[in-house]
Amino acid sequence: MPNTDVRAAGMADRDLVVRLAFGSMAAHTLRAAIRLRVVELVGDTPRRAADVAADAGTEAQPMTRLLRALTGLGLLREHAPDTFTVTPAGALLDPGRPDSLTSFVGMFTEPAIVRAWEHLDDSVRTGDVAFDTLFGTDFFSHLAQHPELSAGFNAAMSQAVAETAAVLPYAFDFGRFTTVTDVGGGDGTLLAGVLAAHPGLNGVVFDTARGLAEAPTTTARHGVSDRCSLIAGDFFRSVPGGSDLYLMKSVLHDWTDDQAVTILSHCREVLPPGGLVLIVEPVLPEVVDTTADVDVLDGGITYLSDLNMLVNVGGRERTRKDFEELCHRAGLSLTSVTPLAEAAPFSLIEVVAG
Ligand SMILES: C[S@@+](CC[C@H](N)C(=O)[O-])C[C@H]1O[C@@H](n2cnc3c(N)ncnc32)[C@H](O)[C@@H]1O
Repeated sequence: MPNTDVRAAGMADRDLVVRLAFGSMAAHTLRAAIRLRVVELVGDTPRRAADVAADAGTEAQPMTRLLRALTGLGLLREHAPDTFTVTPAGALLDPGRPDSLTSFVGMFTEPAIVRAWEHLDDSVRTGDVAFDTLFGTDFFSHLAQHPELSAGFNAAMSQAVAETAAVLPYAFDFGRFTTVTDVGGGDGTLLAGVLAAHPGLNGVVFDTARGLAEAPTTTARHGVSDRCSLIAGDFFRSVPGGSDLYLMKSVLHDWTDDQAVTILSHCREVLPPGGLVLIVEPVLPEVVDTTADVDVLDGGITYLSDLNMLVNVGGRERTRKDFEELCHRAGLSLTSVTPLAEAAPFSLIEVVAG
């Protein structure tokens, strides 16, 4: 006898909920693939699962099952029974590629981050940061105490920012500035991209000592070390002066409104006449846009990032009004918001003194 309740829900609706419920399993399938070097071992020419298993040092039958799951997720292709190649999307799980996303996947499936997500309902109930409750310290202090995790985080941020680093140098008029400081600039990937495209510009990456650990290698790799200083410090105490442009990507969303105002106020203190603060973050619409014909997860990524900020760091994603309010409180004023179309969902938020 058919279950009419199930049928009434409609198959598309059921598919959506089932797909979303399996989301974390998909993420962990990617994590396992990276740890077992599946993409490097499968490669571009059809390879048998048993050979991949032998090279990876695993049992053959579970490896076949992993390869088939990856095929179902669009990351491999099965040409003949048990014979696979890597798809263009799967190739992004090769750590050797310049556009690799292995560290990015590693960080968002990292047990510490996933554990905080298990307490999302508690964070929604109380507003407390689940990570802090679980670990007895905040996320960035935890990174400072765990160098390996911190290196993984820096690598993940570097991979995450690579797309913006390729687009930003041509999407903004850097030519009117002489020196740009990237506040919370991490391993320097973004600033290195900007400096490489603008030979007349000098730069400073400002971050914690741990955040800067990989920056000398990054700036050297991009051939910009001679024009890029690295300054270690704490943006809750001060931001170094001497620049006419202060760039800040994916920093304010890590913090509460009060903390974000403190960071912006320190930028304001050192901003020279004619200087600019350029914030690069997603700008949420006032109402969630569900009209766009996009995959539901794609459309929802920034809202999931918002929840990630809630459970892991205590920050939030913001609307234009939210950014205006923060700037106003810091003695700054927001003059424009320009979506960075080729690096969605980011926007360029221009802010001046006043
Ligand atoms: C989410 S990451 C963004 C990194 C980089 N801007 C990007 O978009 O890839 C935030 C950065 O803020 C840095 N940070 C955290 N607390 C800081 C502090 N108190 N002072 C300076 N930098 C800090 C972190 O080390 C990290 O590099």
